[in-house]
Amino acid sequence: MLRIQPLTRALARPSPLTSLARPFIIRPLSTAAATPITDAIRRDHRELESHYNNIMCTPSSDPDTAVRWQNQFVWSLARHSIAEELVVYPAFEEHIPSGAGKAMADKDRAEHQQVKEHLKKFQNLLPSDAEFKTTLETIWRVLSTHMAEEEREDLPALEQALSKAGESSEKLAASFRRTKHFVPTRSHPNAPDKPPYETAAGLLSMPMDSLMDMFKRFPKEDTPQPGKGKSAGGAAEIIG
Ligand SMILES: [Fe+2]
Repeated sequence: MLRIQPLTRALARPSPLTSLARPFIIRPLSTAAATPITDAIRRDHRELESHYNNIMCTPSSDPDTAVRWQNQFVWSLARHSIAEELVVYPAFEEHIPSGAGKAMADKDRAEHQQVKEHLKKFQNLLPSDAEFKTTLETIWRVLSTHMAEEEREDLPALEQALSKAGESSEKLAASFRRTKHFVPTRSHPNAPDKPPYETAAGLLSMPMDSLMDMFKRFPKEDTPQPGKGKSAGGAAEIIG
């Protein structure tokens, strides 16, 4: 007669794969309480790491795949960096007291500047260029240290300051997401007179005060939406 083993005992028995699988868990789970702005930034960091790994692991025989991940990495990093500079670093300065927030923001901006310089070079390299992967490795060395510091020191300090001041981390996260959404995601190589923000390099070269002026003129959560719920007709009817 077939005896069915109790499920609990089956689960408790160590799998022969357990000891093999463990070394691949490279990042311990954070014990810090989850908070919206921290979560949004951490998600971006993990995505950047994944894009980086995709480029580094693409064989030289597949330059098309390498270019696709290169473009994704450059744009994701440009949008993430600009959203941090426009939304998160000013929040450091505003909410973290005694000049500590200002010092943190200044340090982070300086690190971003280093990354941007290398990123401008990287986006113009071909996978067949000898410097393609070494330039990306240089970016990653600076960026991974910077991201780790943000997650370990800067963001916990911000969350603590926000909660102390009764400010909403969710509101800041919404603003961060909205800013990223407005940063262009594609370049327009065929446009004869392209505005500077239509290439990643142009976007990264824009002075921060010009970017701030531009983003100030995009809608916010409380901007009226007079057309909401109304149909413009035409397109929907044609498609439908
Ligand atoms: Fe950053």
